[in-house]
Formats: sequence, C-alpha cells, structure tokens
Amino acid sequence: MEALAGSVRTFTAAELAAELHSELCALEEGDARAGPGAQAEPSARPPYTLLNMIASADGRATEQGRSGPLGARADRELFHALRTVPDAVLIGARTLRIERYNRIVAEPQARAARAARGLEAEPLACVISSSLELDPELPLLADPEAHVVIITANQATLSGVRAQVDYVRVSDGAQVDLIGAFCELRERFGVKLLLCEGGPHTALELVRAGLLDELLLTISPRLTGGDIASSPAGSRGVPAEVGELPEAALPILSGEVLQPPVGLSLVSVHSTDSFLFLRYRLRR
Ligand SMILES: NC(=O)c1ccc[n+]([C@@H]2O[C@H](COP(=O)([O-])OP(=O)(O)OC[C@H]3O[C@@H](n4cnc5c(N)ncnc54)[C@H](OP(=O)(O)O)[C@@H]3O)[C@@H](O)[C@H]2O)c1
Repeated sequence: MEALAGSVRTFTAAELAAELHSELCALEEGDARAGPGAQAEPSARPPYTLLNMIASADGRATEQGRSGPLGARADRELFHALRTVPDAVLIGARTLRIERYNRIVAEPQARAARAARGLEAEPLACVISSSLELDPELPLLADPEAHVVIITANQATLSGVRAQVDYVRVSDGAQVDLIGAFCELRERFGVKLLLCEGGPHTALELVRAGLLDELLLTISPRLTGGDIASSPAGSRGVPAEVGELPEAALPILSGEVLQPPVGLSLVSVHSTDSFLFLRYRLRR
C-alpha cells in the first residue's frame, strides 16, 4: 500500500476499474469493513461503500451548479468505468433532479464488462429522498428498463413512474435510518458493494453515519474561485436556485461540521491529462 501511495501512475479508465474490481473482490473475501455492523454476519452488514466525486483544484464540487464543467473526456470515461464495478449506485435526490440521471449502465460494452465480472448487467439505481418530490419524467424514472430503489422515510409512493421502483423505508421517526437502510439493501437486493456518486449533502450523511469506506476523488485541473455555499441545514435548506449561482459552489461534502473530523489513508494516486485520481480509505 505504501509503495503505491508513493508513486503517481498514468492510467486508462478501464484499467483502473479492473484494478479496483480485483482489489475490492479480495477485500470482500476478508470483509475489511470496520464501520457499523462490522461484527455482524456478512449477510447483515451494510455494503462496502465507495464515494466517487470530482473537485476543482481549488476545492469546488460544482461549477455553475453542475459537476459536468469540472470534467473532461478522461474523467467521464472513469466515471462510467467505475459503474462496471458495484452492485448498486446511490445518488441524492437533488443530484438526480439537477443532473437528470439516466440509466446507470446502458452501453452494451459496459454491460458486457459487468457480466464478465459475474455481476448483473446493470447496477441497482438507488436514490435517497425525504420529500419524494421526484418528477416521473426524469429520464431514470421514465425508463421501463430501469430498476430503482428509493430510500426514504416518507410513506408516499411515486405515481406515473415507468421504471420498476422498490422502496426501502427504514426510519428512525421522520428520518431515514441510514445504517438500517444500507443493511436492507444487502439483505433484500444483495448489494455488497455500493458506489455513491454524491451529491455533497448525501455524501456527508454517509460519512456521519460511518457508512463510507473509501473516497475516490478526482482533482480537476481547473480553478473556479467563488464562495463555497453554506448550508448548515443540509440541502433541504438550500433553495434550488442557489446551486445555480456561480458564486455558490458546493464542496465535496456539505452540511454540518464533522466532529471529530475523519482521517484518510491514501491508497493510490493515478494521473491522466493533468487530472489526479486519488483513492483514500477512511480511517476508523
Ligand atoms: N462534484 C461531484 O462529484 C458531484 C457529484 C454529485 C453531484 N454534484 C452536484 O451537487 C449538487 C447536488 O448535491 P446536493 O448536495 O445539493 O444534493 P444531493 O446530496 O444530491 O441530494 C440531497 C437530497 O437527497 C435527499 N437526502 C440526502 N440525505 C438524506 C437523508 N439522510 N434522508 C432523506 N433524504 C436524504 C434529500 O432529498 P429530498 O430533497 O427529496 O428530500 C436531499 O435534499 C448538484 O449541483 C450536482 O451537480 C457534484
């Protein structure tokens, strides 16, 4: 591990995804998860969870309200290649709305790569939402081929949605019990490896719950400036239009201060086209 951390290697997206897959398979055998549920039977543990985020070199996770402008071909290839590895992909409802998510893995080549790894052709798409204000015409929800799991404490159901939708409703009063919900993802849907793609508020909640195992952070060779948006109440307290203001960029984690802060161990550093790809394991 130390030798890896000491060198920066160039990579292709497919190579890096393959490397992650084989390393994570090995981890799973020994089940290195150290967070909540570590002592439980494997079938009752939360999935091993990765967070994939991109930030500008000056620490912004959004530019004009979106993550897209921070990326380029190399980063987009990696974003899609990483989806060939997990059993499920999780996003916050606001990211679903803003980024207008589509099917998670639709391309035949990527589906074949997953099948070659012994995985379902497409990861389960998981969305966390408290409001359930999700437009059924969002591409992911409008696609009859998509299978979406909604994690919520809300008892309502979505109407007009053409995707196959299941609900995970493990709540602690009005709030989602995140640890319980993650355990249910494993028990009901066989999710052993989960990839969270943000956004920043959802990401922080996973860290606070002790559910995040690794951070996959891409540093974009770009300076964007502007103020970091402040949102102590979580994104539910941030009006939608705030994220669209150029001066209100989000950092990769947003919400309450982490107390105590969480330490990271560097696992690997890769580089391509001036992008840095950093893989960290969270210290517990
Ligand atoms: N740089 C990157 O890598 C990256 C990655 C992803 C997204 N982004 C950007 O980040 C922005 C969106 O991120 P965001 O942080 O504002 O929002 P977000 O994390 O995508 O979504 C937040 C929403 O998720 C739901 N949620 C989160 N935690 C919950 C919990 N514990 N219980 C119940 N519901 C929960 C709530 O949904 P409801 O509103 O339905 O109640 C909440 O408003 C967009 O601008 C997007 O482009 C950047």
